[in-house]
Amino acid sequence: MAGTVLITGASSGIGRALALHYARQGRRLALIGRDAVRLETTAEECRRLGGNPQCGLLDVRRRDAMAEWIGAFDRATPIDLVFANAGLMAGTPADGHIEPADAGHGVIETNVLGVLNTVQPLLPAMMARGRGQIAIVSSIAAFIPLPDSPSYCASKSAVLSYGLSLRAVLAPHGVGVSVICPGYITTPMMMRESGPKPFVMAPERAVARIVAGLARNKPVIAFPFFFALATRLHGLMPDRLRRYILRGTRFTVAD
Ligand SMILES: NC(=O)c1ccc[n+]([C@@H]2O[C@H](COP(=O)([O-])OP(=O)(O)OC[C@H]3O[C@@H](n4cnc5c(N)ncnc54)[C@H](OP(=O)(O)O)[C@@H]3O)[C@@H](O)[C@H]2O)c1
Repeated sequence: MAGTVLITGASSGIGRALALHYARQGRRLALIGRDAVRLETTAEECRRLGGNPQCGLLDVRRRDAMAEWIGAFDRATPIDLVFANAGLMAGTPADGHIEPADAGHGVIETNVLGVLNTVQPLLPAMMARGRGQIAIVSSIAAFIPLPDSPSYCASKSAVLSYGLSLRAVLAPHGVGVSVICPGYITTPMMMRESGPKPFVMAPERAVARIVAGLARNKPVIAFPFFFALATRLHGLMPDRLRRYILRGTRFTVAD
């Protein structure tokens, strides 16, 4: 099958599962991550499945380096589908204090600016070609401001807005944008978080939902359905009721 796919955060979790899915279809893949060993392990698995991966050892926070690498890759092999997936989680540490300041800044830099650094270098080329699809990985946390992860929730709301704004402006140019809002997915990120994890799902099942949503060019691909609905309704509740319900969601995040 034709089509080149770029995935950030391909060395672990959801990004790795996406890479393996598209490798099975024989796609050309651009895989971005920081950890050389983990990224190469994903690339090797992709090769065994029939994919054709090229690795970019990059930190998504590095705007110039991202623009240079993505621009060069796209000029050689035009990218049809990009996943701005790399992300970090931070929150209340084990000692119960408020989220550390440096961790909060790191989350915003990675989860928000990292998305811009991934998507922006491709916009002029995709618009000129009149085709392309952009998938931004947000979270159900975008709908529900959790007391134990303020910067993470803010980052995911920010990229939800960013993606939907882009969708409106890019539609006339033939470029699709979808924002992906998963619930709890069993990945190393999720394992660092204590507390209740309702409707938890394996990365492979998450990929199936994502791929189905992208095929329909859905604006927001939020799942599991009832969890997404509940978190959206939560945002409409009076503040006192909202905060009462949030008492049952408390957790800590390991280093
Ligand atoms: N797991 C969940 O329950 C869940 C739910 C909703 C949304 N999400 C979102 O899904 C996305 C993937 O998360 P995951 O659960 O798959 O987590 P994960 O297993 O911890 O993987 C995170 C990936 O992001 C990469 N990454 C982090 N910071 C980076 C940076 N500065 N530059 C380049 N790559 C960076 C990591 O690469 P290296 O460590 O190799 O550098 C890794 O490949 C995130 O945006 C997350 O917020 C996850």
